[in-house]
Amino acid sequence: MKHIVILGSTGSIGVSALEVLAGYSDRFKVCALTAATKDEPFAEQIAAFRPNVAAMSDENAASRLKNRPQVGDTTIYSGVEGLVQAATLDQADLVISAIVGAAGLVPTLAAIQAGKNVALANKEPMVMAGQLMQQEARAHGVTIFPVDSEHSALFQSMQGHRKEDIRRIILTCSGGPFRTCTREDMRHKTKAEALNHPNWEMGSKITIDSATLMNKGLEVIEAHWLFDIPASNIEVIIHPQSIIHSMVEYNDGSIIAQMGIPDMKIPIAYALSYPEHIPLDLPRCDLLKEGPLSFEAPDTERFPCLALAYRALQAGGTMPAVLNAANEVAVQGFLDDTISFLDIEGVIEGTMDAHLKTNLDTLEDALSADRWARDHAGNMVNDGAAAEVTMRRAGHA
Ligand SMILES: NC(=O)c1ccc[n+]([C@@H]2O[C@H](COP(=O)([O-])OP(=O)(O)OC[C@H]3O[C@@H](n4cnc5c(N)ncnc54)[C@H](OP(=O)(O)O)[C@@H]3O)[C@@H](O)[C@H]2O)c1
Repeated sequence: MKHIVILGSTGSIGVSALEVLAGYSDRFKVCALTAATKDEPFAEQIAAFRPNVAAMSDENAASRLKNRPQVGDTTIYSGVEGLVQAATLDQADLVISAIVGAAGLVPTLAAIQAGKNVALANKEPMVMAGQLMQQEARAHGVTIFPVDSEHSALFQSMQGHRKEDIRRIILTCSGGPFRTCTREDMRHKTKAEALNHPNWEMGSKITIDSATLMNKGLEVIEAHWLFDIPASNIEVIIHPQSIIHSMVEYNDGSIIAQMGIPDMKIPIAYALSYPEHIPLDLPRCDLLKEGPLSFEAPDTERFPCLALAYRALQAGGTMPAVLNAANEVAVQGFLDDTISFLDIEGVIEGTMDAHLKTNLDTLEDALSADRWARDHAGNMVNDGAAAEVTMRRAGHA
């Protein structure tokens, strides 16, 4: 029996993970779950899976949860310390890291330092502090299994091959809901339009990241740290059908790809059951019905967030953590209707331009870069400075 912790069980990935686990109760036992604020669905999950521990980062939500009859004899913890207690539980064998954003860094790193294998969906900690996470994983003998569909595809396409034979990795990208839009079209895009992803059902933050292509930028940085591949050998290709989830090209010109329907249960199940491919009750990918598979080059003039992510990766040190935090603040500003869609890139670029990069060697280095960038980006969101950066960019273009 493999004992599983899910950090972020009420989210899109968390719910899909529980669906997979529910089908294999003879192989997996859920020992801890965490959430932030949604105590009602969380209580239902606790009633259904009976974990030993449940933790909520929000203290008020945790207090409400304690009074719900569904919790039974599950021990309830709260705050960031509560998340860490869940992530480092003695009996845990594998921690599914599925919190959204930088908030996942502390519990995910704690899981690694406690020697727990990690199934990583929460890409932002890897973007912020990839070197540190990998150093700690090596020091504690931990395997980090990718859950992001692209990284799972790369991981699968590397099985049985030698790392030194890899020429480049190719991350596929649906292009998001604004793939064919001009900059002028994008200027007026609403929250509802940006949240309407053509292929994937996901949480709101990653859906906006998919519309700006920042999600692909974050994935480039994540791939760099997960697979130890230099930025110059990581390419992005637009593939609107989301059937090929990513590819690895080898020195002899062979390209190995992983394909399937776009459903996160597939990479989640592989991370849980590696090296086995456990059966899943999902529609099959019928290539005869899919129609032509097509490919396009990404356009970083229309989608500058992708170029900003490469810039952050090449700069190194604290810059990726700054990119990530500025993006989180900007996306929230857009979701709150405070800034426009195109202002997201302005907040990120303006914050990166203002940052004096330093080395990132410790968790505190990552957290302090994150705090600085949130502060700077927050001021840009509130005083309208993002629009100036975006307009300056338009003047240059
Ligand atoms: N969704 C996908 O298909 C997909 C695919 C690939 C990678 N990912 C990555 O997986 C991660 C999760 O994405 P998602 O779409 O599942 O997000 P989501 O639906 O927004 O869920 C986020 C989860 O994190 C919890 N959470 C939010 N803020 C928190 C905080 N400050 N402290 C602790 N917990 C917090 C939420 O709890 P409450 O519900 O209580 O707020 C929820 O359980 C992201 O990093 C994303 O990039 C997602």
